[in-house]
Amino acid sequence: MSLLTDKKILLGITGSIAAYKVADWVRALRREGCQITVVMTEAACRFISPLTMAALSGNPVHTTMFGAEAPETIPHITLAREHDLLVIAPASAQTIARLAHGLADNLLATVALASSGPVLVCPAMNSVMFQHPATQANLATIRSYGYTVVEPDSGKMACDEEGPGRLTDWETVRQAILTFFAPQTLADEHVLITAGPTREPFDPVRFLSNPSTGKMGYALAATAKQRGATVTLISGPTALPVPPGVRRIQVTTAAEMREEVMHCLAAATIVLKAAAVSDYRFSETEPHKVKKGQGNLSLALAANPDILKELGDLKKESPQFPFLIGFAAESRDHLGEGARKLKEKNLDLIVVNDIGGTETGFAADTNRVTLLDRNGVQEDLPLLSKEETAHRIWDAVARLR
Ligand code: CTP
Repeated sequence: MSLLTDKKILLGITGSIAAYKVADWVRALRREGCQITVVMTEAACRFISPLTMAALSGNPVHTTMFGAEAPETIPHITLAREHDLLVIAPASAQTIARLAHGLADNLLATVALASSGPVLVCPAMNSVMFQHPATQANLATIRSYGYTVVEPDSGKMACDEEGPGRLTDWETVRQAILTFFAPQTLADEHVLITAGPTREPFDPVRFLSNPSTGKMGYALAATAKQRGATVTLISGPTALPVPPGVRRIQVTTAAEMREEVMHCLAAATIVLKAAAVSDYRFSETEPHKVKKGQGNLSLALAANPDILKELGDLKKESPQFPFLIGFAAESRDHLGEGARKLKEKNLDLIVVNDIGGTETGFAADTNRVTLLDRNGVQEDLPLLSKEETAHRIWDAVARLR
């Protein structure tokens, strides 16, 4: 079950060429179980048809203050009461000005004024309009009302100009929406997460690594952010985008990861090590590509530092040390190995996962993990998406803090 299941979202669409993009957002939200009601301004109806939005949302679309369908109801009051979140996207300069000045001269502006719940605004307009002091002042004003504004992207616009003003992407707005519904259990925490594989080079074209894609660690970073944490993500090489609002530091080798972890440690209140760190590196690295020889080649490996063990040892000496969470990727005797690592690395919590199955472990979008905590409590989680697994891990952390 997603955090969005059964949530009622009122979507306000205004006059911008980007209106067509939110048609896809409606489909994505419905796939996650949201109930969507759409309000469109007159200008929005010139860019995209209310019929399209009615079909995609599965609900009638509201466009006027005085609905002919049910004259005995007061649409703006009914609409304002019956949702968990108002999302205005794309939000034109005109609508943002209306919101800033409390105007109530169309249905959407009136609904916004009559709503006491949370409001998320996604501006989209020509970059000169966006950067104009009037628009910037209006955005500052609506922020002061408690509205959340998702900054637009920069880039080439439909009008052929370049600059800030392009409607933000779906993943960014999804994260912003989830923040309204996620329990804020990490509001005062600074979470330091490691994710992905490390790579240990042999020569400029070869390295020692593992199949970790970083999906679990990135899901933990995104969900920690949704739950209100400040998040620093130290990541080995991956193809994943940085979750919105997360500070990412990219590293390649275990030694670099260790250095960054130690550097960021002082600010952290929780450290979670999801990275698949290479236990070994090559004893010697070659500055130039090694050429093929006649026979076999044996290479010596040197042990890498065990970063988590080092943190666990530091924790023994300091009662103020951050809450420490490790992972154990195992192909056999999961629980025995997990319990051993929990104790040997002096952890508060360990997440044990089976790397054998196709639905779990490296590269999969789902995971089935067992949580073992320092008090000996074991929690077996079912097969869940990595995002849901991440939320369940943060739930366990909230219980232990
Ligand atoms: N870890 C680490 N530094 C290493 C190796 C592992 O910080 N050099 C961390 C991982 O990020 C993970 C935990 O230790 O949180 C367990 O990693 P795992 O690879 O499962 O176990 P190892 O300790 O390497 O032991 P083994 O390879 O014998 O299973």
